[in-house]
Amino acid sequence: SEKSFVMLKPDAVSRRLVGKILARFEEKGLQIVAVKLLQISKNLAEEHYGEHKDKPFFNSLIEYITSAPSLALVIKGDDVISVIRKIVGATNPKEADLGTIRGDFAMDMGRNIIHASDSLESAKREITLFFKENEVIDYDISDNLWIYE
Ligand code: GTP
Ligand code: MG
Repeated sequence: SEKSFVMLKPDAVSRRLVGKILARFEEKGLQIVAVKLLQISKNLAEEHYGEHKDKPFFNSLIEYITSAPSLALVIKGDDVISVIRKIVGATNPKEADLGTIRGDFAMDMGRNIIHASDSLESAKREITLFFKENEVIDYDISDNLWIYE
């Protein structure tokens, strides 16, 4: 199995949606292996979203992400990148399917409540950016027997 970096953005935390969102990942059979509540600094936000630095929405994105605490997570499971992107839904919440997190809980691109890594390479980069090595716990859960064939 692989690991992905997931972040509940300031709107998710401030709207008290943390429990509901984490329940979706747990119910699916994915496993939380690291978690941290933090208010992201401007530097960290700019580093995390570096690929978008020339986009017209970059400044408002950085303002949004640093505006209040976020919940950073590392989540483990088989094909975890694509499984999580599916659970999260399309970037634009108005176009995201109902049943996805963005489709069910959000309205605007600039308030789309959650981030998830888009590849194993970005997951590695993002996990290192937000967590020290000893903050990611590689444990096994016995009910994985009932999740995976
Ligand atoms: P992340 O998981 O947050 O990286 O979202 P994503 O991978 O679905 O989208 P992408 O990496 O392309 O964009 C990063 C974030 O920038 C999005 O989640 C949005 O919050 C924001 N964003 C992307 N495109 C737009 C846009 O056209 N307008 C605005 N206001 N924000 C945008
Ligand atoms: Mg992205």
